[in-house]
Amino acid sequence: MKGVIPAAGLGTRLRPLTYTRPKPLLKVANRPIIVYAIENLRDAGITDIALVVSDQTRVDIESVVHEVAGVKLTLVLQDEQLGLAHAVMVAQNWLGDDDFCVYLGDNLFEEGVTRYVQTFQEGEADAVVALVRVADPRQFGVAVLDDAGHITRLVEKPKEPPSDLAIAGVYCFSKALHEITRTLKPSARGEYELTDAIAGLIDTGHQVRGLEVHGWWKDTGRPEDLLDANRLLLEQIEADVLGEVNQSRLVGRVRVEAGAVVTNSTVIGPAVIGAGAVVTNAYIGPFTSVGANAKLNKVEVEFSVIDEEAELDSVPVRMQECLIGRGARVSFSDRIPRSYRLILSDTSSVDLG
Ligand code: G1P
Repeated sequence: MKGVIPAAGLGTRLRPLTYTRPKPLLKVANRPIIVYAIENLRDAGITDIALVVSDQTRVDIESVVHEVAGVKLTLVLQDEQLGLAHAVMVAQNWLGDDDFCVYLGDNLFEEGVTRYVQTFQEGEADAVVALVRVADPRQFGVAVLDDAGHITRLVEKPKEPPSDLAIAGVYCFSKALHEITRTLKPSARGEYELTDAIAGLIDTGHQVRGLEVHGWWKDTGRPEDLLDANRLLLEQIEADVLGEVNQSRLVGRVRVEAGAVVTNSTVIGPAVIGAGAVVTNAYIGPFTSVGANAKLNKVEVEFSVIDEEAELDSVPVRMQECLIGRGARVSFSDRIPRSYRLILSDTSSVDLG
């Protein structure tokens, strides 16, 4: 069985972070989201994986994916972003007649994807789709299940959802899907929807199974999802001090990577301080990831993702629920500021309240 990870999208809901980096490369618990996707496929026994990239995302994605051992990765170029079914269409030559698992590059699953892959391999269905109960399914594909666990109906982002079962971002397919994608028409949002392709399988008499997700699941489409995914992943990190800790207090599950230096500071876990980061006179509160080589001095920060090489200096109030991009800088003079000097890129957001 092969794997396909669509990773060509522009991640518009995560701007400005995604102006400079494709969404699957944003980091949670200090690792790019796509690395978790590749590892989850590998752990389910799928080692031959295509990453569907665009011209804009190709170079960046290529530069990080070598981090994962034990997989053979192939980059497939999707010239135009015409939807998830289109991503499968451009990978079709590479897939040949093999069964395959599509794993959306921005989704995270606490328990990986082995259950879906096994259920597919052991069963008769032409598709297995992971489903999750959500309070507001309108922003997802939504499924209706019968008593035997077969999907009888599917609709993409319905105004009036027929159930509370949203499509989570992992699907297993036989080659039967290709016959359907060939006949697809673009949806109202102008995309070839994978949801419509699966509905097509059902309409043509193929068996499609729905399987509810165990453990947590996160679609990291919005900034608050990134913070939450970071929180969930930090709950699982292995506490360890590989770097240097001087006159500081580490409480709970804290990981200090090699080369990091923490001085005169308090770190309350779960938290990770990345390799080479320098943290001085700081309070790092729960659910915070400090990226590699970041520099934090005289700051209080919690429930935040600080990316690599960011610099935070002498911030007079606690920073909470912040997403600070790679190399970004936040600084104040020592007194309470009377004026702000802001240099912000398009769609940046600053809450000075
Ligand atoms: C896509 C799928 C949708 C699914 C969701 C899961 O939506 O089209 O059916 O529920 O992923 O993350 P998108 O993220 O493209 O809006």
